Amino acid sequence: MRIAVLTSGGDAPGMNAAIRAVTRTAIYKGMEILGVKRGYLGLMNGDFTKLNSRSVGSILSTGGTILLTARAPEFKTKEGIQKAIQSLKENSIDALVVIGGNGTQTGSYYLHKEGIPVVGIASTIDNDVFGTQRTIGFDTALNNAVGAIDKIRDTATSHQRVFVVEVMGRNRGILALNCGIAVGADAIIIPEKTFNIPELSIRIKENFERGKKHFIVVLAEGAAKAEKFADALFLLDGIKASVSVLGYLQRGGNPTFEDRFLATNFGVKAVEMVEKKKFGVVVGIQNNEMTLIDMKQVANGVKPINEKLFDVQKFLSI
Ligand code: F6P
Repeated sequence: MRIAVLTSGGDAPGMNAAIRAVTRTAIYKGMEILGVKRGYLGLMNGDFTKLNSRSVGSILSTGGTILLTARAPEFKTKEGIQKAIQSLKENSIDALVVIGGNGTQTGSYYLHKEGIPVVGIASTIDNDVFGTQRTIGFDTALNNAVGAIDKIRDTATSHQRVFVVEVMGRNRGILALNCGIAVGADAIIIPEKTFNIPELSIRIKENFERGKKHFIVVLAEGAAKAEKFADALFLLDGIKASVSVLGYLQRGGNPTFEDRFLATNFGVKAVEMVEKKKFGVVVGIQNNEMTLIDMKQVANGVKPINEKLFDVQKFLSI
């Protein structure tokens, strides 16, 4: 059997650990394995590279992806998908393992619908893939953001200042919500929930009156841009807020234990599914057990936010 593996969309710490696990499990099971460079872009252009046990040596602990990645809008077109299918055929690929988040797994579903044998692995710092409690990269990104906001808190307290900290999450606020809880944010603003600037400005004043020495707003980029948000606070009530946009530093760095562990288990499971010819599924985790999510559900489903977490943050910052 000859299989291929690719990473697509935003890179996530732990992708390399997943590539290593997929590669070595495949070799152990007597399969031939190729890597596709630059995700779906490379797939459409036939950019394959042969992998062996040594080519994935010493990558378990590194961030980013050795296979490189890309955003590939062309892949969403009929022509793009046909190009990818053609290149899989030309390279005699029997099955494809796709590592990535929502957009990427929607792409896997397109291929699956065309009869291509595909298994997905849920990987994105946003942790927004339907049907899995965790995705590869979420824990590291969370820890990166938490570490940065802890430092911001020192300066916020020293100056008794309001801070608006923007974290990643173009469409979803799962990262912002979780990291907001872990840093004890005074307010968490996410795209899934409406927010009210006048109400927030009252809370800010009340918090300082109660003797708090800082007010930290954790804001998901998908809800608002931090500069605009801070401007709105100032325009309404003259509240001066400092702004920090954490940006891409969240996506880099060595994966945590959790991400290496998750990625390794996901990688092994994905190849086991290939061996069993169980295609059209994305490997994820539920209640500490590996789970298989139907690709159609991943493509169409919306992972709910944890409402309880959102509610408790309101009173934990009193
Ligand atoms: O990979 C997910 C993510 O990091 C989102 O949180 C963010 O909105 C987006 O990717 C940024 O995308 P790009 O790398 O294309 O700027």
